[in-house]
Amino acid sequence: MGKIVINGGNKLTGEISVSGAKNAILPILAATVIGGHESTIFNVPNLRDVEVMEEILLSLGCRIRRIDKMMWVDSKPIDSIRIPEELVREMRSSIILMGAMLTRFGEIIISYPGGCEIGPRPIDLHLKALRQLGVEIKESHGFLHCKAKELRGTEVQLDYPSVGATENIMLAAVKAKGTTVIRNAAREPEIVDLQRYLNRAGAKINGAGTSVVTIEGVDRLTDVTHTTMSDRIVAGTYMIASAITNGEVVIKNVVIDHLQAIIAKLREAGCLIYSNNDSLKIVSSNRSRSIEMIQTLPYPGFPTDMQAQMMALLSIANGTSIISETVFENRFKHAEELMRMGANIKVFGKVAVIKGVKELTGAKLSAKDLRGGACLVLAGLSAKGVTEIDDVYHIERGYEDLHIKLQELGADIKMV
Ligand code: UD1
Repeated sequence: MGKIVINGGNKLTGEISVSGAKNAILPILAATVIGGHESTIFNVPNLRDVEVMEEILLSLGCRIRRIDKMMWVDSKPIDSIRIPEELVREMRSSIILMGAMLTRFGEIIISYPGGCEIGPRPIDLHLKALRQLGVEIKESHGFLHCKAKELRGTEVQLDYPSVGATENIMLAAVKAKGTTVIRNAAREPEIVDLQRYLNRAGAKINGAGTSVVTIEGVDRLTDVTHTTMSDRIVAGTYMIASAITNGEVVIKNVVIDHLQAIIAKLREAGCLIYSNNDSLKIVSSNRSRSIEMIQTLPYPGFPTDMQAQMMALLSIANGTSIISETVFENRFKHAEELMRMGANIKVFGKVAVIKGVKELTGAKLSAKDLRGGACLVLAGLSAKGVTEIDDVYHIERGYEDLHIKLQELGADIKMV
């Protein structure tokens, strides 16, 4: 099992290009099963989560070719409706296959995705909406057996703008009879990317990116070529890598609009940020300022997936900051690890109070989840001395060659 070792203190400088978005490619790969059609997808990031989805598609019978950042999927030969349990356990977001497989075969057997390290993450909203579309769901012995004789368009009012539920409904409604309207839909950019892929394949969807998404059922999907959007969370993570080391980094291949909430908070912390078409430069020459309040919210609010990385920066800021995590139940595990490095953080349920210290010191740490792991790498970049982080597989789920890219920016970091 890999371990990351960082000798902290180097200022990061240089240029970096952001890869395709994990949270966009996963639902798109699920969508490839819908039409028995061929998909050619560019800008596919090289991540463990993408590998898991690839393994699932292969196990169902898909033909897949992967050359560098291009993936070609032919879903015609699929001959199974059962998703391997061990792969669902490894990647909870495999439940996104429910909508897609129901559209293709009217049936799927998938194990119930268990709890996870950032809270219970129920799927009640997914199941309620699928039932409204005409799906019968039997839950027994930890498995969900979903069947639909016919998927029928309907109106779904989501109780919460869940990203996964919005995507699952879109996938289930693509070929449903009639029109489906999702109200209080999640507005994340990744949902817009899914709409783009599906519409290129012949679907009739509009409204992604707003709270109301309308899906008019079509008869068939056709072969499609798509380029995955760039990863806003990876971009945000490198922005903080620059800020936390008082560096000067140019981040290329970004969509500035997707980064507005992160840019605003980093400016509050004292960073200078210049943007230009699809790249930005972040400069920070002094100790960061504290931030009065960060509240994680659905898009376009501050992303929960950037909360941990922001905490690393605020732990050495001048003053006291407050983070309120409203999206997930239990997403402060990285706070304990930061405290082992000398951070002064108090957690009260879903609120963390961070009293900035002058510097962190290197320590032996353990990545508890994907973004929490990235937070520890960032902290290690700024800390005095050596930081060792184990359970790096969490980080590999969502960051492509993180240590190599940070090395290129001047960090003293290696994987052992
Ligand atoms: C997606 C992202 C994840 C991100 C999250 C919030 C992917 C693969 N993952 O996860 O990186 O952190 O959005 O931006 O895109 N909920 C329910 N019942 C449900 C569904 C969700 O109570 O049926 C709750 C969850 O427990 C959580 C909140 O709603 O507290 C948000 O979850 P959701 O938006 O569904 O996140 P994911 O799609 O799982």
